[in-house]
Amino acid sequence: MKLTPLIAALFVGATVSASAAEAPATYAKNCAACHGKDGAGQTKAGKQLDAKDFTDAAYQKSYTDAQAFTDIKNGLKDKSGKQLMKPFAEKLTDDEIKTLIAYVRTLQK
Ligand code: HEC
Repeated sequence: MKLTPLIAALFVGATVSASAAEAPATYAKNCAACHGKDGAGQTKAGKQLDAKDFTDAAYQKSYTDAQAFTDIKNGLKDKSGKQLMKPFAEKLTDDEIKTLIAYVRTLQK
């Protein structure tokens, strides 16, 4: 039977699109309070912490996916040690974090 790889491929595809479909809701729940629904960071907390503008192409180029992954997972502090982003390691799986980074990339205008 040569069908097995095809079926496996279908399952992999289904899993990926399911978590990608959840990304906007996961973002709204965990990230939008600071980064804003549209990613511009113009929320009360976002302004206070100086969240940058995800809709800005130049800002999107200023960090790598790997950097974002580490900062979301382990948290991010400024130079004086003030907490910017809390660590999401206990709340989100690695896959969820990766999917969120991909989603954040789509917020660029
Ligand atoms: C408590 C507010 C807050 C929350 C909640 C928050 N962030 Fe952030 N985030 C920030 C701040 C502030 C920065 C730093 C902006 C700067 O100076 O570059 C940042 C930076 C980032 C960056 C830029 C890359 C980097 O590592 O510097 C990404 C991507 C990001 N956040 C994604 C997320 C995602 C996805 C979530 C939800 C799981 C989230 N953030 C939740 C405040 C927050």
